[in-house]
Amino acid sequence: MSEKVKSIRGMQVLLPEVLEKWQAVEGIVKGVFNAYAFKEIRTPIVERSELFHRTIGENTDVVAKEMYSFKDRKDQSLSLRPEATAGIVRAGIEHSLFYNQTPKLWSMGPMYRYERPQKGRYRQFHQINMEAFGFQGPEIDAEIILMTARIWKLLKVDHLQLEINSLGMPVSRKKYRTELQNYFSDHRAILDEDSLHRLEKNPMRILDSKNPDLQSIIEAAPKMLDFLDNESSEHFEILKDALTSNGIPFILNDKLVRGLDYYTKTVFEWTTDQLGSQATVCGGGRYDGLVKELGGQDIPAIGCAIGVERLTELVAVSNENPQNKQPKIYIVAVGKEAQNQALVLSEKIRDLGNGISVVMNMDGGSFKQQFKRADKSGSDLALIIGEEEIESGTVSIKSMKSDAEQKSVDEAKVLEEIKQYL
Ligand code: HAM
Repeated sequence: MSEKVKSIRGMQVLLPEVLEKWQAVEGIVKGVFNAYAFKEIRTPIVERSELFHRTIGENTDVVAKEMYSFKDRKDQSLSLRPEATAGIVRAGIEHSLFYNQTPKLWSMGPMYRYERPQKGRYRQFHQINMEAFGFQGPEIDAEIILMTARIWKLLKVDHLQLEINSLGMPVSRKKYRTELQNYFSDHRAILDEDSLHRLEKNPMRILDSKNPDLQSIIEAAPKMLDFLDNESSEHFEILKDALTSNGIPFILNDKLVRGLDYYTKTVFEWTTDQLGSQATVCGGGRYDGLVKELGGQDIPAIGCAIGVERLTELVAVSNENPQNKQPKIYIVAVGKEAQNQALVLSEKIRDLGNGISVVMNMDGGSFKQQFKRADKSGSDLALIIGEEEIESGTVSIKSMKSDAEQKSVDEAKVLEEIKQYL
């Protein structure tokens, strides 16, 4: 026997039974995007590595440790996208999408990060992204958060908690960064290796450390909110009021810094205690400087991404998939001629175009064997064509879901009859 080819660690296959739940989630999410006038965009999975270095940041874990980067045949460095925002911004600038045409975009697809795989954390995972461009005021921040809250509600996912913070504009953030660097330098002796590394390059990320030995100095560290510039502070106050007016509870988390460098002002995460250590189901924030940074006009932006694997894990219902509610027919056909006729009939049923799913028995078998397969397929109705039916120009119809008698119908009337059954 030949040797089997192994799958890649952290890259999951999504089996049909799992995908039923995914499709239910996708259906609901698409309806919500439509309600908020977001339009879909699909960008390439592969981009120039430079795009991610310049946006996510050289010193983030994502760029420094987790990218799938490789050289193509022309020796250009390319990377599998670790997230979608950078690619959407790049594409939007290239196609002039942001300047008053299509300012609200959503996207869904696979992302790649070389992380240590565990439940809820994979090397290939999927995100649903939403991004809005050109809106300065905090109303859009509120609308995006409300949109995600609506998704949770429609999917009947509770226990999600909203955490928000403001990182301010680059000027106030720079001041805070220096303050934090001084503070943690004074505690250098207690810092672990990871935090010492972050101290030089990205001191705000020390606030993210889960090391229990560091929690007391993190707790006592200077707070970003005390360093906020007036504009960011006012923006944040209005957002908080808007959330309160719309009945969305939130927690102020001044240690919420996010793992990507492009954020300004508002950042937020939806977290859960139902998924162990991989608690963040959705995260995002403003990135007012990014479009300009990538060569576009100076326009503000905000967005977030839902982790689809994590969200579907929290969704209990799988039978909301409309495909499951569509009628199924199995065609039992014994004999060469019957088989031929079954093929023609199955196409005619599909021509009816009303979502009926037709399974034609393949590769022969006795009546008994074929009925067994029909039963297993979960069909509502079996159509039977055998020697007898061929001779008399009929098709037999049998309900698989009731005890109703099998019925013989004239070949020409079979489509009419099916419509009545279903
Ligand atoms: P992020 O926080 O890096 O943000 O990822 C967003 C979500 O993707 C996470 O909250 C999580 O649910 C999911 N996720 C991330 N990594 C993994 C993984 N290895 N396995 C499974 N799920 C994962 C971003 O990517 C930003 N681009 C979001 C954004 C959009 N900000 C503004 N616009």
